Amino acid sequence: MLTAGSFAGKTVLITGGGTGLGRSIAVTLGKLGANLVIASRKKDVIEQAALELAEETGAQVLGLPCDVRKMEDVEAVLDAAWARFGRVDVLINNAAGNFIAPTESLSHRAFEVVVDIVLKGSINCTLACGKRWIADGKPANVLSVVTTYAWTGTGYTVPSACGKAGVLALMRSLAVEWGPHQIRCNAVAPGPFPTEGAWSRLFPVDMLPEQVAREASPEYRIPLGRVGEHEELANLCSYIVSDYAGYLNGECITLDGGEWLQQAGQFSWVRHIPKELWPQIEKWIRGKA
Ligand code: HXC
Ligand code: NAP
Repeated sequence: MLTAGSFAGKTVLITGGGTGLGRSIAVTLGKLGANLVIASRKKDVIEQAALELAEETGAQVLGLPCDVRKMEDVEAVLDAAWARFGRVDVLINNAAGNFIAPTESLSHRAFEVVVDIVLKGSINCTLACGKRWIADGKPANVLSVVTTYAWTGTGYTVPSACGKAGVLALMRSLAVEWGPHQIRCNAVAPGPFPTEGAWSRLFPVDMLPEQVAREASPEYRIPLGRVGEHEELANLCSYIVSDYAGYLNGECITLDGGEWLQQAGQFSWVRHIPKELWPQIEKWIRGKA
């Protein structure tokens, strides 16, 4: 979507950039000329992904082990990135943990692990980068990957909902506080985009009774009738963190094919009324008036 070289000379740090959506965003940014720093817990996965990304995009890629919950890990990643590339210009808070479960079945540790990865991890990375950026006095920006239940809430992934709501508040708050330092903070809220990480923890489709599987399906839930394509999200993220979006600050852009609005709309059920019933319904309504 952006012109070649849009990110030439820029360095982007993507947490969880070795798999799934983070990796897809990395591919697009690498092809647009960015230096990439990807960081996550699994050393072998992140190092292998760095090799593959360098090969696929021609970008310079640093793949570093890091648990975003640990500030010392985050600082070590930033030290290495500053040493290799001079600075980081863009932080993408993408790392997350999540799984479906009835909330009352969760141990306090299960709740904590998800909130810590999502919220504490984003706080750690944003704070560590922000301090360096403010000391530098140069423009920079943060993009956090949330989802639509950051504002609707949702049952069955409650720790994630709490974490993502906090991350959205973090972005909106810092957009105001750090705007004067020319640090933009935004969020993106994807609907369902198939990844191994999400699908293996959130959509046990093969195990579901037929009716439940139907209600969980994209055709049923999403006005556009399909899941998202990684490139669609990667293009949007690239735009948000680019200089073309230099006036975008404190915003959260939804990319979900209309999913959350359909779930929220009071009369969305009307779409299930068979077409041939409408003359009768109209007659019934007019008869009552
Ligand atoms: C209940 C569970 C559980 C489950 C783990 N726990 N899985 N409880 N149901 N399915 C409990 C454990 O028993 C333990 O509590 C505590 O949680 C910590 O578990 P660990 O396995 O020790 O944690 P860890 O190895 O750090 O793994 C973290 C994780 C895991 C979050 C549980 O799933 C992970 O690594 N996820 C990273 C990737 C990920 O989740 N990707 C999906 C993002 S998708 P006790 O009390 O026993 O010690 C996403 C999409 C949003 O966010 C929107 C979609 C549309
Ligand atoms: P994913 O591939 O499982 O991505 C999660 C990444 O986070 C992994 O690379 C994982 O790597 C990393 N991670 C987890 N805990 C970490 C920690 N403590 N420190 C550092 N890294 C950690 O799943 P995904 O679907 O691509 O999700 C990416 C983002 O999109 C998440 O923020 C998710 O909430 C969001 N999202 C996804 C969807 C979707 O439909 N897929 C929809 C809405 C929002 P390690 O295991 O190596 O640490």
